[in-house]
This record gives sequence, C-alpha cells and structure tokens, in this order.
Amino acid sequence: DGDVYKYYADGEWKKSSSGKTVAIINPTTRKTQYKVQACTQEEVNKVMELAKTAQKSWAKTPLWKRAELLHKAAAILKEHKAPIAECLVKEIAKPAKDAITEVVRSGDLISYTAEEGVRILGEGKFLVSDSFPGNQRTKYCLTSKIPLGVILAIPPFNYPVNLAVSKIAPALIAGNSLVLKPPTQGAVSALHMVHCFHLAGFPKGLISCVTGKGSEIGDFLTMHPGVNCISFTGGDTGIAISKKAGMIPLQMELGGKDACIVLEDADLDLVAANIIKGGFSYSGQRCTAVKVVLVMESVADVLVEKVKAKVAKLTVGAPEDDCDITPVVSESSANFIEGLVKDAKEKGATFCQEYKRDGNLIWPLLLDNVRPDMRIAWEEPFGPVLPVIRINSIEEGIHHCNASNFGLQGCVFTKDVNKAILISDAMETGTVQINSAPARGPDHFPFQGLKDSGIGSQGVTNSINMMTKIKSTVINLP
Ligand code: G3P
Repeated sequence: DGDVYKYYADGEWKKSSSGKTVAIINPTTRKTQYKVQACTQEEVNKVMELAKTAQKSWAKTPLWKRAELLHKAAAILKEHKAPIAECLVKEIAKPAKDAITEVVRSGDLISYTAEEGVRILGEGKFLVSDSFPGNQRTKYCLTSKIPLGVILAIPPFNYPVNLAVSKIAPALIAGNSLVLKPPTQGAVSALHMVHCFHLAGFPKGLISCVTGKGSEIGDFLTMHPGVNCISFTGGDTGIAISKKAGMIPLQMELGGKDACIVLEDADLDLVAANIIKGGFSYSGQRCTAVKVVLVMESVADVLVEKVKAKVAKLTVGAPEDDCDITPVVSESSANFIEGLVKDAKEKGATFCQEYKRDGNLIWPLLLDNVRPDMRIAWEEPFGPVLPVIRINSIEEGIHHCNASNFGLQGCVFTKDVNKAILISDAMETGTVQINSAPARGPDHFPFQGLKDSGIGSQGVTNSINMMTKIKSTVINLP
C-alpha cells in the first residue's frame, strides 16, 4: 500500500495534523509506491515563521561556516546516492544509471556553489563620488551582497533532487532560509535529499520541506507574505505563479520547444547521435530536450534514415533495467502525448515507426513531414515523440523557431562557424548550442529562457546573485 513519509519542519520529521496523505503512483507499475503528508495551511504558516527566525541568525553565521556545512551535505548526499536513486526509479521512472548521475551531479553542484559563494559573497565594491560630474571626493560607498530572506523553491518532477539543490544551495550560501515544496512525483527522493542536509547539521527551521496537494497549499505558498523570493522550475503553472506573486524576485524556468536546425553541410552522424540523446533521453521529459528537428530538405532523407536506425536500437521497458525509454510520469501525460500523435496522424505526418503504447510506456516515435498546422509542431509532448519539419532555407528554420511562444534553447548543426554564429544571433532563445544537443549543464553555465520559457537566469553564479540584494553604506566626509 506504500510507505508513508513525514514532512520536515523545525529540524524534525512530522506527521501532518490533516491526518491525510497524498499517494505517489509508480509510473511503471501504476500502483501506489509511497505516500507523503498532505500538509495544511497552518503548517505552512508555522514553517514560514520558523524560516524567518532561523534566517536571521543564519545570515550572521560566517560565510566559511555556511560553506563548510554545504560541503558536508554534498558529501552525505553522494554517500546516499544508491537509496535516493532507487526512489527516483520508483517515483519518476528515471533509468537507474541516470538516477545515480542525478544524485552525484547534485552533490557536485552543492560543493561548487559553496566554493563560488565564498568568492562572490566575499567581495564587495568600493566607490568614490568624484567620478560622477559635479561631485567632490567626499563620499565613499561600500557595497556588499545581503540575503533576501526566505526563499521558496519549487522544483519539477524530472529532476526532483538536482533542480531542488540548484535552488537550495545558492539560497543557503547567500544566507537565506529555504522552504521546499517538492513535486508530488519525486517528493520522496526530495525528502531523502533533505535528510542529507539534516544529517549535515544545519540549524533548525532553516530548511523545511512541505508536501501536499497543490490545490490546498500551492497558491497559499506562492502568495504567502513570508516568502521573499520564488525559484520555480516547471510548466505553465509558473506563468500563473508569476501573475499572482507579490513584489518579490522571481526565478522561473518553464517549458521549451527546443529546435534543432540542420544545415546541408552538417555531419549527419553527429546530428543523428545528438537527436537521439537530445530527443529521447529520459524519454523526452526534459525542458531542454530537442523538441523539433528543422532539417534542410536536401539532407532530410539521409538524416531521417540515420535517426530511424538509431531509434530501432533504443531499449524500451522498466527503469530498473536501465532501459533508454521508460514509462512517462503519469497516465495523463501519456494521454496528452497520445493526443498529439493522433492529431499528427489525422493531418498526414509520416510515421517512421508504428505508434505503440502500453500503460504509461510509449515507444519512441519519429514523425517526419510534420507541417505547421499540426499541434506537435508547436506543443511540447514531454515524451518520446519527435517531429521533423523539412525546410528549404535557413530563414524558414529561424522563422519557425522564433514563431514559438517558447525560447529556452536551440541548436544548430553546420561546419560553417560563421553561419552558426549568425543563426545563433537570430534565434530568440536563451542559449544556442553549436553542434550539440541543448542541455542545461555544466551547472555553472548560465541557464535562461526567453518569452514563455522563463524569467531571470539560473546557473550557480546567477542563482547566488539572484538570491541576494545589494546593500550600500556611504561614508560622508566633511
Ligand atoms: O529543467 C531543465 C531540465 O529539464 C533540463 O536539464 O540537464 O537535462 O539539460 P538538463
């Protein structure tokens, strides 16, 4: 019937007074795997109060000590990679090896953030007044970076550990406290990760993790007057949150429809390998997955054949067996993907493989000759289905890319570096990769989306800066 997990507040594991739990369905078995507490609004209020108090003394804790605790948490997290990865396999059907990688990458991210934090936050600025017209050298301005207060972190199901620590570590090194609301699928992995911070010995109340139904505590958390900053990764909900949130800094990473533009001179083996990696890893459930291929007509037949041959080699099945393609996160997600496939079928797309589904498991599917009137040309399936649109000019490719509401990443394949740079400049996306599939990492690189893909920029350095503000002290000389 599923193990029941407690939520984390005031340095302790607690049962909710609601007496209710939320079930986490294993995407593979479609049975309840775990249960987490359905926290109440009163419990959220309590957590916010504790976070506010704990932050005051944490901000006064020396920076090197804050860094030391983060390094400790990183080491503990890495030591516990096996049980955490097991949860990722059961909760979100992440292939076993990728689950381990997620945890290790998260440990590295925490350590890197601690190191980057002591450098960034260890430096301030000193300005003198006489550089501005009309001023004498009578004012000295000292600036430093101070924490914002309480950070609310809301990561998505696809990286419940990594995209949680990418918010937690910068928040903590900068002297903030942290309230985590994990995704339901992925909540138990997140609770295990929080336990590693607990074992590292962070002060009580500084970190909390509340679980529960979005309908009960979602808006209550994001609109809570005690929250001083929201860092969110996920889908459309982010747009709703940004409309309702108060006058606080927001860091949002939402969806994407990352295009892969393939020119005639591209190394087609390299392209095919990157389309497979970019389009089908974790069954396409990544914001940065390749979500549309825009290939020049003259090389399209050859490329499609190469990709087809590689699709045929993808293993399909259980995450425990480390298959390439595993069940998508939920039945509703599988139904949504199926809707896009049916629409493409009705409108005449070429199916390179037969469409096949068993429960939440959808076999990898490449759709050729997709046209702009098909939903799959614009919407993100978040599943192992990839459309190919044949183009007759570079302009046509750029036009399709820029007509999207999204603007996360994109990629271009060509041997002509000049063309690649011109295309990169023309693509309205936060990042363009030349000759490789889109990806967020390495995790210290800036990561940002334009348009509906987000607000602000992430990556270790940007996140630390974003979770602070500048404080000045001006010394006025006689
Ligand atoms: O939300 C971002 C995530 O989906 C992409 O991260 O590391 O797979 O490029 P990554």
